[in-house]
Amino acid sequence: MNAKLTWVAVLVGASLAAACGKKEEAPAPAPAAAPAPAAAPAPAAAEEQVVKIGHVAPVSGPQAHYGKDNENGVRMAIEDLNAQNVVIAGKKIKFEIQAEDDAADPKQGTAAAQKLCDAKVAGVVGHLNSGTTIPASKVYNDCGIPHVTGAATNPNLTKPGYKTTYRIIANDNALGAGLAFYAADDLKLKKVAVIDDRTAYGQGVAEVFKNTAKQKGMEVVDEQFTTDKATDFMAILTAVKAKNPDAIFFGGMDPQGGPMLRQMEQLGMSNVKFFGGDGICTAEIAKLAAGAKTLGNVICAEGGASIQKMPGGTEWKAKYDAKYPGQFQVYSPYTYDATMLLVDAMKRADSWDPAVYTPKLIESDYQGVTAKIAFEPNGELKNAAITLYNYVDGKKTPLN
Ligand code: ALA
Repeated sequence: MNAKLTWVAVLVGASLAAACGKKEEAPAPAPAAAPAPAAAPAPAAAEEQVVKIGHVAPVSGPQAHYGKDNENGVRMAIEDLNAQNVVIAGKKIKFEIQAEDDAADPKQGTAAAQKLCDAKVAGVVGHLNSGTTIPASKVYNDCGIPHVTGAATNPNLTKPGYKTTYRIIANDNALGAGLAFYAADDLKLKKVAVIDDRTAYGQGVAEVFKNTAKQKGMEVVDEQFTTDKATDFMAILTAVKAKNPDAIFFGGMDPQGGPMLRQMEQLGMSNVKFFGGDGICTAEIAKLAAGAKTLGNVICAEGGASIQKMPGGTEWKAKYDAKYPGQFQVYSPYTYDATMLLVDAMKRADSWDPAVYTPKLIESDYQGVTAKIAFEPNGELKNAAITLYNYVDGKKTPLN
């Protein structure tokens, strides 16, 4: 299975278009201090410079658990960076987070992106949802600030070729296809039904799964749609059940996936496998399934190696859990690496000005917690891996 997964994980495309940067205005110099009273200690030699890193994700609403996990990753990176006493252009840098909430809503996503542009942050980590990240990427491109997502997986994100857009996780071409290969080759399933939540992510990943499943000779017996706000799926599940599928593929997130599993159990669909991408591959879905045995039928795919196989994963996770107990979901190691990656480019450029350091991002060769990070010309991660998981005794467990 590993060879197949590696193969599907390198499906990346799109070329780079030119994009221009805008210089960050240097903050005004601090006013001269009043003469110190006698015997005041001498100030530290290096002048301190505050450099802001923006973060955007849903930290309110049903997807807040993903967003908080992502934000925690950035906070942890900033804490580590500030402990390292980073010096850029002769100044000791104090990194600060400017954290925004987009509530997983595309309009709030672009508003948050504009706010970060106006605040002249040096770079942005985010967003989490493809539905917010894709429109926000244009805003960042227009204001010349780079953003790195460790969570948004729709392949269309990198299609415009913005020089300000980077993704450090496998995209849905890899996730959707990897799951379809597994369903066909390893589980020998014949009939699948597809449900999606009509978001950029859900619809996109379901489409890749469906197309690959058909190529592999599987029959797509039904297609149903819901939304990323719904919690009652009895009608569409009843329709799906009538088609007698071996599996359902769900393109969507866990606030829908969890209740769907419960309702599948209520409808007696306890032998139907439940496939999904990274959006349902969370710790939270086990809680949201609220004891439904159908959780044991879940097979989900996530970009990257499992925490256990990440170069710095186990040590990093122990540190994270000590700081943010019970909050780990999926992407915080990626948002941690995304923050470090931005700062790595700033160091190599000896500048936190996005117009100066953004061109260094594409040349990244950064050893992160999650992987060695280098980019394809379109800003997609090179050699992106994926991992499949199932839930054993309620615990998310890697299959490869
Ligand atoms: N991978 C999910 C998305 O792209 C979170 O929206």
